[in-house]
Amino acid sequence: MPGIYDYLEDKDGLLHIDGISSTEIARRFGTPLYVYSARRIRDNYRRIHDAFAARRENFRANYAVKANNNLSVLDLLRREGAGADCAGPGEIRMAKSVGFPPGRILYSGNYNSDEELRYGLESGATINLDDGPLLARLLRFGKPKALCFRINPGFGKGAYPGVVTAGPDAKFGMREREALKAYRLAKEAGIERLGVHMMAGSNVLETPYWAAITDRLTGIAARIAKALRIELDFIDLGGGFGVPSKIGMKPLPVEDLAKKVVDAYEARLAKTPEIGDPTLVIEPGRYLVSDAGVLLATVTHVKTSAKRFVGCDAGMNTILRPALYGAYHEILPATRLDARRSLRANVTGPICENTDMLGKDRRLPKLEPGDLLAVLNAGAYGFVMASRFNSRPLPAEVLVADGQARLVRERETLEDLTRGEPIPTSAG
Ligand SMILES: Cc1ncc(COP(=O)(O)O)c(C=O)c1O
Repeated sequence: MPGIYDYLEDKDGLLHIDGISSTEIARRFGTPLYVYSARRIRDNYRRIHDAFAARRENFRANYAVKANNNLSVLDLLRREGAGADCAGPGEIRMAKSVGFPPGRILYSGNYNSDEELRYGLESGATINLDDGPLLARLLRFGKPKALCFRINPGFGKGAYPGVVTAGPDAKFGMREREALKAYRLAKEAGIERLGVHMMAGSNVLETPYWAAITDRLTGIAARIAKALRIELDFIDLGGGFGVPSKIGMKPLPVEDLAKKVVDAYEARLAKTPEIGDPTLVIEPGRYLVSDAGVLLATVTHVKTSAKRFVGCDAGMNTILRPALYGAYHEILPATRLDARRSLRANVTGPICENTDMLGKDRRLPKLEPGDLLAVLNAGAYGFVMASRFNSRPLPAEVLVADGQARLVRERETLEDLTRGEPIPTSAG
């Protein structure tokens, strides 16, 4: 398979995932099924990590757990040397359970409850506060050794409007003036190590943007460091490194990305020695796991009315991104790769919503119930966004590693749907 999907192969018209036939995987584990390539995740991590580490020794990569929280994926990335970016207590718990040391976990919450602040502090993770006044609330539970604030650098970028997380409309982060106040309070509270963070948007493929946003964030950090006479422990540029959604699109040129970012970063440090020598941190999610995952679905029914519909057993309950953002996912006819794609059809699931479209107007061959479809780029924000909508059990996950496919999350059953819901006897 071309380009970034180097672990996918067409063998006599049948999709193979890291050497194993998709029909064999579907037969063993059922569908809908998320399948991840350990090799591809590892390659993705090494490619982006090494590009930065070759240019700046004082560098760290944290994996954004929200992209894919499967414990086997977390374990794999921890063994590669990644730290963890966690969005809440659940992700901290999961990261710690596979051995991420608390000192390598950054907890970037927003609109936190007191319980979450206390949990974060007690977990030993470094806390990244999304607003200055949260500091006073956090200090009620104790004083952290290290602390970070999330800055809104004033602009952001994303593949879809829904994934732009900075700029005037963003709910995240602080403007420079509020940040200055927050860092002053943190200094007065005697917090020893201070970091700066941003997360400005997701799925960005253009490298000039990264140079511009690095320059903007480090500019803000430099002014704060100078005004308050504080040296910074780290500057975290967040995630957002893009993955092409369509076959044939150019992947992110990571060497060029790393060069542009590190050049902008180090130019700022050279201009503002007061800032110290903060560790450069990135926290990719999608870049590490998106193209390493395939969602396998079985065709259930093909219908022709005003349009042609190919129905399958994966819907917006299984993969939400098309319905949520209008996100594009390539869909391959996994069992008929060599057949002529002579038809155009909408690919839909079994959910009672008309937004339940995995792809619209796709070129496909003639398909029959029982054929397999493979939805590409399903490794990030796939399973983690799945729901039980329409009372459908959550799908299973499989990791292919060392030539073997292994179950890494069990499929839910219909019995799971009725568990944990006692009906009060006094109700009647
Ligand atoms: C704080 C934070 N860091 C990192 C990420 C990862 O972003 P991406 O998957 O685009 O790399 C996100 C995603 O929303 C995030 O909110």
